[in-house]
Amino acid sequence: MTDAPVDPTSTAAWSDLTALAAGFEPDLRRWFEEDAGRVERLTFTAGDLHVDLSKSLLEEPVLVALLALAEQVGVAERRDAMFRGERINVTEDRPVLHTALRLPADTAPGERPSVDGQDVVADVHDVLRRVYDFADRVRSGAWTGVTGMRIRTVVNIGIGGSDLGPVMAYEALAPYRQDGPEDGIDCRFISNIDPTDAATTLAGLDPASTLFIVSSKTFGTLETLTNARLCKAWLLDGLGSVDPEEAVRKHFVAVSTALDKVADFGIDPDNAFGFWDWVGGRYSMDSAIGTSLAVAIGPERFAELLAGFHTMDEHFRTAEPARNVPLLMGLLNIWYTNFLGAQTHAVLPYAQLLHRFPAYLQQLTMESNGKGVRWDGSPVGTDSGEVFWGEPGTNGQHAFYQLIHQGTRLIPADFIALANPSYPLRDEQDGQSVDVHELFLANFLAQTRALAFGKTADEVRAEGTAEAVVPARVFTGNRPTTSIIAPELTPSVLGQLVALYEHLTFTQGAIWGIDSFDQWGVELGKQLAQQVGPAISGDAEALAEQDPSTQALIAYYQEHRRR
Ligand code: F6P
Repeated sequence: MTDAPVDPTSTAAWSDLTALAAGFEPDLRRWFEEDAGRVERLTFTAGDLHVDLSKSLLEEPVLVALLALAEQVGVAERRDAMFRGERINVTEDRPVLHTALRLPADTAPGERPSVDGQDVVADVHDVLRRVYDFADRVRSGAWTGVTGMRIRTVVNIGIGGSDLGPVMAYEALAPYRQDGPEDGIDCRFISNIDPTDAATTLAGLDPASTLFIVSSKTFGTLETLTNARLCKAWLLDGLGSVDPEEAVRKHFVAVSTALDKVADFGIDPDNAFGFWDWVGGRYSMDSAIGTSLAVAIGPERFAELLAGFHTMDEHFRTAEPARNVPLLMGLLNIWYTNFLGAQTHAVLPYAQLLHRFPAYLQQLTMESNGKGVRWDGSPVGTDSGEVFWGEPGTNGQHAFYQLIHQGTRLIPADFIALANPSYPLRDEQDGQSVDVHELFLANFLAQTRALAFGKTADEVRAEGTAEAVVPARVFTGNRPTTSIIAPELTPSVLGQLVALYEHLTFTQGAIWGIDSFDQWGVELGKQLAQQVGPAISGDAEALAEQDPSTQALIAYYQEHRRR
C-alpha cells in the first residue's frame, strides 16, 4: 500500500465522470417529482446517524461512476491497510492507527493491530486506565493541589490537534460535565502564543485549585512550551512560598509521545500520559490528548465517546460500498470538487453545542488533504483539499447564507441536527407554548429545502412582486446539501460524527493519492519564525537577511511599539 498511487484521472471511471459532468444539468425538483424512491434510496444509516443524500447533486449514473472510481483507485485496499497498521503515512514512514485508539480491550487476537511486534491495543488500554484513574482522582477531590485544595479548574495547554478536539468536545458535551457547587470542575484552554490568550484564560483563577495539562504530541511546539512556562511562572508566583518542585508535581501533568522531553520540562514521569507516533495530531482527541475531557465528563462517558468512534470505524471497515456513508460522502465531495468546480464545503451544525465543530474539521480536513503532491512525490494533477468552513445554524443564516442561496459559487453544505435538544426550553407567547427546539429544527429543514428546490420567477411573480425586483428574489435551487440527523448529542454520537469526517477525509485523500497523515506545509513558517524573531528584537544581522516587505513591517513595529 505504499506503492505508487493510482492516478485517478487515468481511470475509466474518471473519464465517465468527466463525460457525465459535461452534460450535467441538475434538477432536484424534477428528480424528486419523477423518482418516488429517491429519498429512500439515498438515505443511509451509520451507527446512530441518519444521513440523507437525496438533496445532493447525485443521479444514479454519477453514483455508479463514483463507486467505480473508488474501486479502480483501490480505496478499500488502502483502508484495510490503514486498519492493519501498515505504514501508509509514507513521508513520515509511520503506520496510521488512530482507529486502534478505540478498539475494545477484548478485541480478538486476529483483529489486534501490532506495530513492530507490539500489541497496540494493550498499550492503548494501559494508558487509558491511567488517564481514567487520574480523571477519577481529580473529579473525586482525591488529587489535591500543593496546599491541599481540591482542583476546581483544569487548563489544557496545547495547540492544533492538541487543542481543537478537546475544546470542541468539551463544548459539545457540556451537559455531561461535572458541575456541582461542591465538586464542579471547569476546563479552560490556552493555545495561542498571543500572550492575551494565557493572560485572559488565567484571569480570575486561583493557582491553589488549578491544574495544568500540557498537551503536545512532540513536546517541541513553540506555542505550547512558551505557554506552559508562562503558566508555571504564574503558578509559582501565585502560590508564594511553596516547594516549586512539589508545586509543579501537583499542578502539572503532561500528554505527549516524547516522554523524555516531558521529564526535561520538570514534569514527573508518573504524571505523564503517553501516546504514539502512529496517531496524527489531528486524529488524537480520543488518545490521552483527551485527558481534560476525561476529567470533565468522567471515564464512563469518555468510554462511550470511544465506543461511538469504534461504531463508525466498523461501519467504514465493513459496510458494502453502496451503503458505506463515509465512503459515499467522500466520493460526493470528489464529484463536487473535481467535476462540478466546488472550492469550499460548508458544515452547518444546527446544534449550538457543536459551535467549534467546523473549526475542528478545518484542521482535520485541510491539514490532511491540503496538498499538491501525492505520497510518491508526483503532482496531484487535479484539485484537492477543498476549504471547509462553517458556523452553527441559525447564526449562519443571518450572516453568510445569502451567498449559499444566491451567490455564483457552488457550495455543498452538510447540515447536522439532533432530534432531541440538549436543553429543552419552551417559549410562551400569546397564550401559546412553543417548543423552541422545533422552531430551530424548522430552520434546519427549511434551509435545505430552499437550497434544493429554490423559487422560480413565476412563483415570485405570483406573490405580487414588482417585475423589476423579480430577478433579485429568485432562488435557483439545485444547491446541494447533506442532512445528518441523530437522536441526541451523546458522547457516542459525537464520536460517530468525528469518525465519519475522519473517514470521508481518508476517502478523498485515497482518491487523490495524497498522504493525508503528514503536514509538511506547516514547517516553513515555523522555521522562518525562528529566523525573524531576532530581527524583531533588534538583531541587525537577522534584519538584513529579511526581504524588503518584512523589513518594512518590522520598521513599522519598532516605530509604534511602546516600551
Ligand atoms: O503545526 C501543526 C501541528 O504539527 C499539528 O499537526 C499538530 O496538531 C499541532 O502542530 C500541535 O503539535 P504538538 O501536539 O506536537 O504540540
